Amino acid sequence: MRRHSIAVIPGDGIGREVTPAALEVLEAAGRAHGFGLEPTEYPWGCDYFVENGRMMPPEALDQLRDSDAIFLGAVGRPDVPDHISLWGLLIPIRRTFRQYVNLRPIRLWPGVPSPLRDVTPADVDMVIVRENNEGEYSEIGGRLHQGTEDELAIQEAVFTRRGTDRVMAYACELASGRSGRICSATKSNGIIHTMPFWDERFAHATAQHPQLEAEQVLIDALAAMVVLNPGRFDVIVASNLFGDILSDLAAAVAGSIGIAPSGNLNPEREFPSMFEPVHGSAPDIAGQGIANPIGAIWSGAQMLEHLGEEEAAAGVLAAVEDMLAGGGPRTRDLGGTATTADVTAALVSSFDTR
Ligand SMILES: NC(=O)c1ccc[n+]([C@@H]2O[C@H](COP(=O)([O-])OP(=O)(O)OC[C@H]3O[C@@H](n4cnc5c(N)ncnc54)[C@H](O)[C@@H]3O)[C@@H](O)[C@H]2O)c1
Repeated sequence: MRRHSIAVIPGDGIGREVTPAALEVLEAAGRAHGFGLEPTEYPWGCDYFVENGRMMPPEALDQLRDSDAIFLGAVGRPDVPDHISLWGLLIPIRRTFRQYVNLRPIRLWPGVPSPLRDVTPADVDMVIVRENNEGEYSEIGGRLHQGTEDELAIQEAVFTRRGTDRVMAYACELASGRSGRICSATKSNGIIHTMPFWDERFAHATAQHPQLEAEQVLIDALAAMVVLNPGRFDVIVASNLFGDILSDLAAAVAGSIGIAPSGNLNPEREFPSMFEPVHGSAPDIAGQGIANPIGAIWSGAQMLEHLGEEEAAAGVLAAVEDMLAGGGPRTRDLGGTATTADVTAALVSSFDTR
């Protein structure tokens, strides 16, 4: 039997609810498709920070390094500043393991209402390829004269040719295997150094793929277009910040952020890749058992695909689709009354009864 070792970090808030739920579904898919998962759980996150003064232990990255993949819930707790939870756990994992592609597929599932009038599942099926290692999320900068009238803060954005080219190459390959359409999110009218550079590298990347239909759109206009005409977009490549914002917007267009998945990929496979739902720890609903587990489950399907279990990955997505289209249980964010456990049980039983 094939075995895959998975480092599991449930994290905080609803991360601790949706992660075990997703693992139950992935294990059911494994039983149906002849493989097993070997999860090792790490209790890192904000509770760990409150007790130990750091989000994860100093040797954490070495503990994760040899796993086949990392499966994360979410981190964040209202009494811990968000920059501590992000820079103490997520960003070190993404950067040390060169997970430079953040792959965020967005689909409107049949049976899920979009907040947009007249939008059908055929209109919303796109993938945001977010640069995940550099860009606007940089440690370069500083603060001076804190607490005085002369206080200032400087934050440098960092765009390297290597970092920009590799994510664009990935996005072009992806677009070639899909509709052949690719759009770059830019802001070269207002940001005069990094964004014209981004545009030049996009022109360079798409010149290697002359069959692609390529366009670049200013991020502000692009945000409006994704709402007004989502069907126009297939693969969108974006910098770290623009991709982060745009993918929450697109997830809302597709009905709920509770559904949206993401993969932090090291395409060269020198290091483990990490899979996590797009949503955060949702402290407003944590502990109530009502979080939508589909974002975590879909992220798990991305993980199975990455591990070479393509059939099982497709099986998980088909099970989700059948459940939603067939009027199966749905959580409150999708207008239903089901609990996390109800949705999980429905999906597990769809595998176990096959
Ligand atoms: N990758 C991560 O770990 C990650 C990502 C985003 C935010 N965060 C952190 O999470 C905390 C909360 O952030 P936020 O409130 O801005 O974003 P959030 O995604 O946690 O929640 C936004 C809204 O969506 C709802 N929601 C989110 N996921 C849901 C689900 N699965 N089912 C049903 N409803 C769901 C929440 O109830 C909330 O109303 C913060 O500390 C933030 O830093 C972490």
